[in-house]
Amino acid sequence: MLKDSFERTIDYIRVSVTSRCNFRCLYCMPNTPFEWEPRENILSYEEMFEFLRLAIDEGVKKIRITGGEPLLRKDLDRFIKMLYDYKPSLDLALTTNGYYLPEYAKKLKDAGLKRVNISLDSLKPEIAAKIAQKDVLKKVLSGIDAAIDVGLGVKLNTVVMKGINDNEIIDLFEYAKNKNITIRFIEFMENERAYPGIKRVDSKEVLDIIVKKYSFTELPKDNSASKYYETDDGYRFGIIEPHNEDFCKSCNRIRLTAEGYLIPCLFFTESYNIKEAIRKGDIKKAAEILRDVVKNKPEKNDWQDNEVSERAFWETGG
Ligand code: 5AD
Ligand code: SF4
Repeated sequence: MLKDSFERTIDYIRVSVTSRCNFRCLYCMPNTPFEWEPRENILSYEEMFEFLRLAIDEGVKKIRITGGEPLLRKDLDRFIKMLYDYKPSLDLALTTNGYYLPEYAKKLKDAGLKRVNISLDSLKPEIAAKIAQKDVLKKVLSGIDAAIDVGLGVKLNTVVMKGINDNEIIDLFEYAKNKNITIRFIEFMENERAYPGIKRVDSKEVLDIIVKKYSFTELPKDNSASKYYETDDGYRFGIIEPHNEDFCKSCNRIRLTAEGYLIPCLFFTESYNIKEAIRKGDIKKAAEILRDVVKNKPEKNDWQDNEVSERAFWETGG
């Protein structure tokens, strides 16, 4: 079992399979990065699997595939099947912008994927286009339906931004409620690559808006990043509040980038590379790096002190 210095058990890895994306979301990658990593620097599925097998053997129970946009990487279903076949009981999930789900959902489900989180920031075509800097809404909405239809577990993620989509909180909430899928409102995490001038909306303001129309109670906290609430008629929704000082107490995760960097905390740029060890077949060294990353996981992020992260979010998929 992997335990960090603050007695948190690390049993969850988020794996970014590509930094590239077909959207340019204002909060993440408003400008195309100056240059992309050359192909040879990217871990192959086999190399990622080699490392993840080790992590699974050390007690990792949940793997989430992220990006960039993970469905841009070719044959992602093949990678999912490798993980599923190694351990069918693994909680295997994907975070996506939803754009390619209409074509991909069934393949992913058949490969062993259990759940998807899909980004949905607006229900108005022109606002969705302003946020992603591309006309995306129609495809994303059919992506959501496709994922539900093939039987994947579906959650929606909404980053709430002042003056951009904060007047749609109830509409988004009711869209999700009518489909009986969980929506989570996420506080914008300030980072240097985001579009300047984006202002977060605190979770308290979001809850204040919802409570005017629906009464709800807070559910006991589990070790996910969200706090969950349940309305009187039994609908569950969540908020993610990285600015809250409790946020990091239940953190159970580390991140692996497509270039092989293991990242202990989303806020910080500190990282450790496993690529060389994996390419040399030095599993002992890779295991050592994994333990170091877990041991050096910081107690908390710095958003709680209103700092701005230097990390590029597209490398870790949020
Ligand atoms: N703040 C909050 N959430 C973010 N995400 C990406 N960048 C940010 C940010 N700066 C989340 C969004 C997106 C997912 C991939 O990661 O929910 O949908
Ligand atoms: Fe792409 Fe996701 Fe970043 Fe948007 S948030 S630009 S969809 S990686």
